Amino acid sequence: MVTGANRGLGRALVESLLSEDAAKVYAAARHPETLADLAARDSRVVPLALDLTDLEQISRAAALAADTTLLINNGGSLAFTDPLDGDLAAVDLDLRTNFIGTLATSRAFAPVIERNGGGAIVNLLSLVVFGPVPAMAGYSASKAAASMTQALRAQPAAKKITVHGVFPGAVDTDMIRAFPIPKTSAADVAAAILDGLENGQDNIFPDPMARDGHQAWRDDPAAFERRMASM
Ligand SMILES: NC(=O)c1ccc[n+]([C@@H]2O[C@H](COP(=O)([O-])OP(=O)(O)OC[C@H]3O[C@@H](n4cnc5c(N)ncnc54)[C@H](OP(=O)(O)O)[C@@H]3O)[C@@H](O)[C@H]2O)c1
Repeated sequence: MVTGANRGLGRALVESLLSEDAAKVYAAARHPETLADLAARDSRVVPLALDLTDLEQISRAAALAADTTLLINNGGSLAFTDPLDGDLAAVDLDLRTNFIGTLATSRAFAPVIERNGGGAIVNLLSLVVFGPVPAMAGYSASKAAASMTQALRAQPAAKKITVHGVFPGAVDTDMIRAFPIPKTSAADVAAAILDGLENGQDNIFPDPMARDGHQAWRDDPAAFERRMASM
């Protein structure tokens, strides 16, 4: 089950799961008609309607996708909001989508995965968890909040569910199209996420910027904060 599956990294994750011989992939999107080409190309793709800000729709999706064993919480929004004068409504939307949406989807699907004998939950976080980018202050906070992934890990572990956090650097999708910095392709990042999952990594750093950034943070957190703040 992949949320935000219609474009960007979500679509690349669906493609990777199919090429890794997944028996079925629930591809969830706000507008499921945007998944028609994927579903027409491969009958293993089951489109589902899911807006992460709609808690009832999340419950319905969990009831429909009752044979899920892997949930990839990929869908996310990014508003450019400075900390002092950014639009608060935009900050609120990022928090509701990236934090509450991810948490609610995890809550809805954990019992489903448990009933199916166990599996995994994968949460798309970001390198900004380790050092916020001021122009993305609300987004950075929403991703840091979604690091409740670690709290979640302690909970469902007993129910045979592994919980993984993914901390990408810059990925070449619509989300940061306007940022002229080196980016890794969504296909490469998706493949690295599935490799990390297969290798049992709790925290997955799926691209060179992520790995370099995480090492820089470990070496000198204050210097890393300044580096991210200058972006
Ligand atoms: N791109 C990067 O550099 C980068 C870096 C670190 C982490 N990430 C994370 O990776 C994930 C995928 O991002 P991306 O780069 O693929 O971004 P993207 O190209 O902007 O795609 C975002 C996806 O999330 C969906 N989405 C947004 N709001 C939603 C909502 N309320 N309910 C359901 N789906 C919603 C979008 O659906 P619509 O088409 O309907 O808008 C779209 O499918 C996100 O969690 C993002 O924060 C990305």
